Amino acid sequence: MDASNKPPANRYEALYRDFDSALMRRIRREAYGEDIGQHSWVGADELRRDTGHLGLTHSSRLLDLGCGPCGPLTFVIASVGCSGTGVELSAAALRLGRARAASLGVEARFTLREADLDAPLPLEPRQFDAAMSLDVILHLRDRLRLFHEVARLLRPAGRFMFTDAGIVTGSLSSEEVKSRSPYGFTQFVAPGWNEGLLESAGFRLIETENRTASMLNNARGRLSAIQAHRAELEKVWSTAGFEKQRDYLETVIKLSESGALSRVMFLAEVRTPQAV
Ligand SMILES: C[S@@+](CC[C@H](N)C(=O)[O-])C[C@H]1O[C@@H](n2cnc3c(N)ncnc32)[C@H](O)[C@@H]1O
Repeated sequence: MDASNKPPANRYEALYRDFDSALMRRIRREAYGEDIGQHSWVGADELRRDTGHLGLTHSSRLLDLGCGPCGPLTFVIASVGCSGTGVELSAAALRLGRARAASLGVEARFTLREADLDAPLPLEPRQFDAAMSLDVILHLRDRLRLFHEVARLLRPAGRFMFTDAGIVTGSLSSEEVKSRSPYGFTQFVAPGWNEGLLESAGFRLIETENRTASMLNNARGRLSAIQAHRAELEKVWSTAGFEKQRDYLETVIKLSESGALSRVMFLAEVRTPQAV
């Protein structure tokens, strides 16, 4: 298989190898202020607010699609006291997630599934009260299929919240698209696209919120943190790997500042038969 066609998780796999080293933890602290083990644009405060949007209580069953190393998922389980299931393609991420859940003492309320979000999910219908997917949707080849899967897995009126950092709100050059896609397949969509697909998958849109400012802030934080640790990072990532990450972050910053690419939060709920 040609390198450019590899599933995205293969590229995340390499990054996740050192994800919880002392160096990477330090970089996350410097970049985000609060390290919750995220590999996304999500910050702890944003996640605390979104937990409220999802209406989670200690008896809720939460599904996290593309959970990565499970930082946000275990953070929510620990802070709300709910139970959670993560679905993820990367085996390295799932190993990290299990260790994180054990270190937080939440493993009894925590389940993981290694699965491809571009395929039918091996989960029984209507078993979750809420679902989230943080900065994952843009990597999927068929997001409508996933939206249908989420509608199948949620109870009636269950809530689904996701963030999409790939909403095209200006112009993008081919070079910018390339350096904005270091993790493999990435799909950029027009404003309104997700809203239409959610509707046709059986959701009622509750709210959207532009989250570009938090992405810009976190990208700036990550860029200055990796630059401060360049020599150590080059030993882990190689010089070419470091430069690719730097170009990626610089492109995210440039496209956010110019307004060309936006990150948006979508909150929707499964339509009940009465509401159809
Ligand atoms: C930007 S990371 C976000 C991780 C996590 N949500 C977080 O906030 O820390 C995107 C994740 O999506 C996963 N992913 C991408 N495509 C996937 C697919 N088709 N099936 C399952 N996981 C996928 C990647 O392996 C990666 O862990």
